[in-house]
Amino acid sequence: MAQLSELPKDLVQNVVDVLNCKDLDPTTVVFEPVPPPVVSSSSSENGSVAKKTKKNDENGNGEREFVLGRNVHDSCLDITEPEANDDVTGDKEAYMAAVLARYRQTLLDRTKHHLGYPYNLDFDYGALGQLQHFSINNLGDPFIESNYGVHSRQFEVGVLDWFARLWEIEKDQYWGYITNCGTEGNLHGILVGREVFPDGILYASKESHYSVFKAARMYRMDCIKIETLVTGEIDCSDFKAKLLQNKDKPAIINVNIGTTVKGAVDDLDLVINTLEDCGFSHNRFYIHCDGALFGLMLPFVKRAPQVTFKKPIGSVSVSGHKFVGCPMPCGVQITRMDHINALSRNVEYLASRDATIMGSRNGHAPIFLWYTLNRKGYRGFQKEVQKCLRNAHYLKDRLREAGISAMLNELSSTVVFERPQDEEFIRRWQLACQGNIAHVVVMPSVSIEKLDTFLNELVERRSSWFKDAAHKLPCVASEIGKDNCVCALHK
Ligand SMILES: Cc1ncc(COP(=O)(O)O)c(C=O)c1O
Repeated sequence: MAQLSELPKDLVQNVVDVLNCKDLDPTTVVFEPVPPPVVSSSSSENGSVAKKTKKNDENGNGEREFVLGRNVHDSCLDITEPEANDDVTGDKEAYMAAVLARYRQTLLDRTKHHLGYPYNLDFDYGALGQLQHFSINNLGDPFIESNYGVHSRQFEVGVLDWFARLWEIEKDQYWGYITNCGTEGNLHGILVGREVFPDGILYASKESHYSVFKAARMYRMDCIKIETLVTGEIDCSDFKAKLLQNKDKPAIINVNIGTTVKGAVDDLDLVINTLEDCGFSHNRFYIHCDGALFGLMLPFVKRAPQVTFKKPIGSVSVSGHKFVGCPMPCGVQITRMDHINALSRNVEYLASRDATIMGSRNGHAPIFLWYTLNRKGYRGFQKEVQKCLRNAHYLKDRLREAGISAMLNELSSTVVFERPQDEEFIRRWQLACQGNIAHVVVMPSVSIEKLDTFLNELVERRSSWFKDAAHKLPCVASEIGKDNCVCALHK
């Protein structure tokens, strides 16, 4: 323990202030708060080893493995302690400003070269900058005011009503909230299903998002994976077979409104028919629709099996930072009022009801959603959907013209194609890859110019990848179907 005489002057002053305060026990406050640096016992090399390894089969194809426990700290921006008597407006301010300016440049560049994740990066929320100074928190139920007054519930409920109209459920028939992301929507929807049917079995296609299987693990639910068609849609003949094997237990089903990798839309009507054909009456199943990716695009696509509460579904969720274009992760979850009572509890400390997954809830996100829904409206989103579908077709056609295997599902703007051979190229364009395939998700921020730049680079780089072995173009028929594959065997 440091002696008083060894401490810096301002710390000594703190000590004296505390000692002079009669009612405060001086031992309640630590006088030297800076912990010593933690010295690593392992070799410093550990910090910089690659996080990914690849197990190859004889054809060089393989699953990439991610190694835990070797966290890389190379690019970490260290926190440097101010000197005890440091003037905060001095060198430190200048250092932080320089770091932030560099970071901003990185963000501009990374935004320019982004194609792989379903985020709409095109927005202007300048008008909301004035709200940054407030700690807005919607903890508790959106419809019951808590004692914390710095909230945005009026915006939240406005947004929920907008989605309720889209999904055709009356204001007094639904309950919902603005979540932190699509994952939270899935965790909530499946939890409501589990509360309605505590002994229900969760059915989800094997191409469902990983959050669905995480929910099953978290809630310790029996979970049955269903096969998919080559498009990525749930295979209802396999679904039927598995339902028939488990007729004695209620069914909780995750229906994908846009799968993560192929953008496939499960046929909701066929799922419902299959349940009915197998003898499941409406009070023996619960359907959660995972619309994280495509939930707000589908209503504007003709021929799509529509999501609506006029059908026997239990809940729908969507991400707010994807097609909608919010600058922070968020989402919307809507369920039926009848169901939510099974989940919610009174919390006296909040003076509200607890029916959400999280406690504190981002109160800024509803305002961003409210703002963008007001500006665009249903018609604005309809135009953006048209643009995305058109640009997605353009990308798929140009890939095929360039002799590259590619697939685009009819109801989707996710273009799937052969995985580029060069990891550097994948990182540059931030492509999402799985096995032998990669995808570009065409969002409103993906223009024809951006696609042209990407395509030109891809075609140029690809000619060097296959220069000596044009006949060895990778076969992706098992992933995207023979008709979409242009390898030597299938073209
Ligand atoms: C189909 C699907 N569901 C859920 C999620 C999870 O959404 P979020 O990233 O908003 O948590 C994603 C994310 O890409 C998705 O594609």
